[in-house]
Amino acid sequence: MKITVNDFYKKKRAGQKITMLTAYDYPTAQMVDEAGIDAILVGDSVSMVVQGIENTLPVTMEEMIYHTKMVARAVKTSMVIGDMPYLSYQINREEALRNAGRFIKEAGAQAVKLEGGREVAEVVSALTRAEIPVMAHIGLTPQALHRMGGFKVQGRSQEAAARLLEDARILEDAGAFAMVVEAVPAELAKQVTESLAIPTIGIGAGVNCDGQVLVLHDLLGLFERFLPKFAKRYVNLKEIGVDAIRAYRREVEEGAFPGPEHSFS
Ligand code: KIV
Repeated sequence: MKITVNDFYKKKRAGQKITMLTAYDYPTAQMVDEAGIDAILVGDSVSMVVQGIENTLPVTMEEMIYHTKMVARAVKTSMVIGDMPYLSYQINREEALRNAGRFIKEAGAQAVKLEGGREVAEVVSALTRAEIPVMAHIGLTPQALHRMGGFKVQGRSQEAAARLLEDARILEDAGAFAMVVEAVPAELAKQVTESLAIPTIGIGAGVNCDGQVLVLHDLLGLFERFLPKFAKRYVNLKEIGVDAIRAYRREVEEGAFPGPEHSFS
């Protein structure tokens, strides 16, 4: 059975951690689903870890729909969440509704995620009224890279922390069913988590959030350009893959592959 927003609430109430990872295509979504992860975020991080772009700003709605469809096809249990790309929800409410609706209607997602504080509250409530579950995202919001002056820890000053806490409450009131809290001091994330009835999903926000999310390619060692301080590499699949490809190359060059078992008589 698919994980639903109700399972998110139940887990928070029961003090059980929620697990979330990104995935962007059929085979990786199958891996994440089979491992029993609660939710798969088809993140706009696809632009960095798959498309090789410097930041998340250029990825388009069409590309996000394309990737979300592949993930939705692969998944049996995890909730699929489509990440709304830059400028797909900031222009006006109508465009936000149309674009969020595409994730649900065309791509097979069960929810969408969007970045921002109080300035996106009206959009969150419009999508919620249209029966689209919305995951909010506060703290370091990579689509605000240029305003923030880089990928920097947020909410360090007293004023910034108070504003972030207020944003979290406003987004909950607007109808968000969960909230990603990215790159904020662990104590502030704990305060946000304790002050909300909806679950927080942390990334670089300490252990006291209701759940955790990582970019899959960081966890698997498939993204080399940089590893954020908050990410953990559990395996180096890049190294394993290169070794396997080298073995194939050697066998072809030596005439050892294909063997009789790979040939037709
Ligand atoms: O796009 C993404 O992968 C994200 C997660 C890091 C939360 O927004």
